[in-house]
Amino acid sequence: MSVTFDLDGEHRTNAYQILSSLITPRPIAWVSTLNEDGSVNAAPFSFFNVFGSRPPMIVFAPGNKGPGELKDTARNIKRQKQFVVHMVDQPMLELMNHSAATLPYEIPELSAEHFTASDTIDVPRIAAAPVAMECSEHSCLEIGQNRLIIGLVHTVHVQDGIANPDDAKINQAQYAPIGRMASPNWYCETTSIFQLDRPD
Ligand SMILES: Cc1cc2nc3c(=O)[nH]c(=O)nc-3n(C[C@H](O)[C@H](O)[C@H](O)COP(=O)(O)O)c2cc1C
Repeated sequence: MSVTFDLDGEHRTNAYQILSSLITPRPIAWVSTLNEDGSVNAAPFSFFNVFGSRPPMIVFAPGNKGPGELKDTARNIKRQKQFVVHMVDQPMLELMNHSAATLPYEIPELSAEHFTASDTIDVPRIAAAPVAMECSEHSCLEIGQNRLIIGLVHTVHVQDGIANPDDAKINQAQYAPIGRMASPNWYCETTSIFQLDRPD
C-alpha cells in the first residue's frame, strides 16, 4: 500500500512541500554575496549540491521573492557573478537561521565582524564557518519559476582539524555539517555516521 501524489494534477501546489520534505537530508549552502553598497548579504539555500569536479561545480536554487523579483542573493550574483558558499555546522546554526530573515535589500543580515576577505574573489567569507568555497557564476538556468545558479568553485577554506593539508583528505569524524529536513524548521545532525564497503 502507498499514498500517491500526482504533481502534474491535483497535488501540483503541494509539490514543494512533498518534494522538499521527502528528498532529505539536504546540505545547506550558506551563501554570501556583495550588495551594491559594498555590504555583505548572507542567506541559506538547501536546494543545493555538488555536481562535478572537472571543473569543480556546485548548483543551488534561489526561488524568487515574488513574481519577477529576485532574492537578494540571486540579484547580487546576476550583477557581480561571484559568491561564497559556506557549510553550516552546529556552532553556526543560530547565525545561519538568523540570516534567513526576509529583509529589505539594503539591510545586511549579518554584521561586518562576521566576515573576512576571500583570496580569489571580492566577496568576503564568513570567518567562523567550517567550510567556505569561493565561487564564480558559470551560468544561470531558468526553468519555469526555478532558477538554478551553476557555480565554479575556485578556492576552498576548511577549518583547522577537519582537513589534512598534505593529502587533502577530510577527517569525517571531525566534520558534522547540519542537514536540512522538511521545511519550515526541521534539521538533522550528522554526528552518527558509519562506513559501508563497496562491492568489488
Ligand atoms: C535552511 C534553509 C534553507 C533554505 N533553502 C532555500 C532554497 O533552497 N531556496 C530558496 O529560494 N530559499 C531558501 N530558503 C529561504 C531563504 O534563505 C530566504 O528566502 C532568504 O531570505 C533569502 O535571502 P536573500 O533575499 O538575502 O537572498 C531557505 C531557508 C532556510 C532557513
